[in-house]
Amino acid sequence: NYPKKGKVAYKAPSNIALVKYWGKKENQIPANPSVSFTLDACATRTTLTYHQKEDKSDFSFDLFFEGKPKEDFKPKIETFLKRIESYLPYLREYHFTIETSNSFPHSSGIASSASGMAALALCLLEIEKEATVNQDSEFFNKKASFLARLGSGSACRSIKGNLVQWGKHEGLENSTDLFGVNYPNKVNNVFKSFHDTILLVHKGQKTVSSTVGHNLMNGHPYAASRFVHAHTNLAALEAVFANGDLNQFINIVESEALTLHAMMMSSTPYFILMMPNTLNIINAIWTYRKKTQIPVCFTLDAGANVHVLYPESYSKEVIAFIKTELVQYCENGHYICDKVGNGAKKI
Ligand code: PMV
Repeated sequence: NYPKKGKVAYKAPSNIALVKYWGKKENQIPANPSVSFTLDACATRTTLTYHQKEDKSDFSFDLFFEGKPKEDFKPKIETFLKRIESYLPYLREYHFTIETSNSFPHSSGIASSASGMAALALCLLEIEKEATVNQDSEFFNKKASFLARLGSGSACRSIKGNLVQWGKHEGLENSTDLFGVNYPNKVNNVFKSFHDTILLVHKGQKTVSSTVGHNLMNGHPYAASRFVHAHTNLAALEAVFANGDLNQFINIVESEALTLHAMMMSSTPYFILMMPNTLNIINAIWTYRKKTQIPVCFTLDAGANVHVLYPESYSKEVIAFIKTELVQYCENGHYICDKVGNGAKKI
């Protein structure tokens, strides 16, 4: 009993990995497990309007980004629909209007693929939910994450809240390569309200896409040891998440960020996504931490921007530090204040 027409909207957040996913196998299976903080403020809102159509031979959709038609996103969506079709066999039966917008500024250098693919997966899956009596919400979330993964790997970590594990790791019950799950072991409260202030060092498009970067891990001279390293860091984080040891947290998280970029610098061809101000910020954070003993650290995505991570209890001091010392390294002085959030929501 699939609906003839309907409308649904979801807001899905971005996420920031603590242990990084870099390298993948066929079908968006990660080469190593990862764990991330779900964010709150950085999110995508997607509204899906749909109606059944006569001609079921092909996909049919219109796409609007921030109110305007967006032709250049269409191939990516089309690829996504093809990949998920066998799990949502009704996709060719509808015409879709997809209207999407981000809470963070356009071309801020913040990737919207995680939040965008998560929001779209949730909307498309909602049609199945409409047609199913008593669908279990756990199943719904798992399937949404599974579908989102096929759009963009890290998107599978944008369905659930605060700390999300993706990828099989021994000792983490229910961990799987197929979708993200709430971190299954004990998590100290300090991590449930962690802050992430994103310093926008470079707002333009990055020079090498993550798809290309992931592929360069095939045949990479350090790939095998990097994948083991990710498992070692996840294992070490287990105790840290439970006991709230911030010094150990910092050691692991900063090492993960630099290792991600070290993989890029040692790929063939090699490339660098950090910029001089990325390093200026890292050095300033290290100096400040040494001087004040405040447990603030950084992590990096596949780009030049810096995520400044710190416990909520130090937010006043760290924001003052950012305003006086770090803002000079941000493009047009721009940064985004975010914190750990609760996952995607129907709106
Ligand atoms: O989801 P993708 O394919 O855009 O890859 C994301 C990779 C990193 O952001 C660099 C790391 C991660 O785990 O999110």
